[in-house]
Amino acid sequence: MPTDRILDVSELWAGYGATPILQGVSMSVSRGEIVGVIGRNGVGKSTLMRCLIGLLETWRGTITFLGEDVTQLQADARARAGFGYIPQGRDVFPQMSVEENLQVGELIGGPEGKKLPELVYEYFPRLKERRRQVAGTMSGGEQQQLAIGRALIGNPTLMILDEPSEGIQPSIVQHICDALKSFRAELGMTIVFVEQNLDTILEIAERCYIMEKGKITRSLAGEDVNADNVRAQLLL
Ligand SMILES: Nc1ncnc2c1ncn2[C@@H]1O[C@H](COP(=O)(O)OP(=O)(O)OP(=O)(O)O)[C@@H](O)[C@H]1O
Ligand SMILES: [Mg+2]
Repeated sequence: MPTDRILDVSELWAGYGATPILQGVSMSVSRGEIVGVIGRNGVGKSTLMRCLIGLLETWRGTITFLGEDVTQLQADARARAGFGYIPQGRDVFPQMSVEENLQVGELIGGPEGKKLPELVYEYFPRLKERRRQVAGTMSGGEQQQLAIGRALIGNPTLMILDEPSEGIQPSIVQHICDALKSFRAELGMTIVFVEQNLDTILEIAERCYIMEKGKITRSLAGEDVNADNVRAQLLL
């Protein structure tokens, strides 16, 4: 697997109004890695993800994606460049059917000529069974699969997930973990995810960044990504 650099974040500052939340975040991710961002509630994990994908303006610092400085690009341009995003709380269109939600993913699109609706149904057969169901009436886990499917359809180079297992029953969490590992193994995808669920972190993260008060303060890799270390960081 090639090990070239996908994402480089350097000294990122951002916030809301005049209040800084991100206060000099630096991190990097190489092709094919699955990297977790962990930390206690309110430290700025979701803010960092929104900043990475361009929904929140960067005050200072740089975001380099595939060797290009994307710091000034809008979210739609970043999506076209290869960012995929599944926000915390999923955010599917509740009045639309599964199929229609996936069509929106196709409209947002990814790299030219690579639309993958059938692939979504292969990874998430439940969505195929429910393709005509209105998304808002599905379970949290089904909606999460749909949100992931909608991002997958754009064939992102880098998929960013914000707490994919939050409020979802364990059997579906396991299915989602398996799907994410398959995206990397079979599609060569790179994944960054925020998570507070210990089992999910241990199941998929090869490396973790620890976030505290708007900064990345530590990282864990290899054997150090274990229950004791991760639990200590989450202060469970
Ligand atoms: N839209 C917003 N406007 C103003 N402040 C915000 C907004 N979103 C988040 N914040 C504040 O920014 C800080 C970081 O929030 P953020 O959601 O990034 O944390 P988090 O680490 O994702 O937390 P959680 O684990 O609860 O999801 C918090 O103090 C929060 O109140
Ligand atoms: Mg959050």
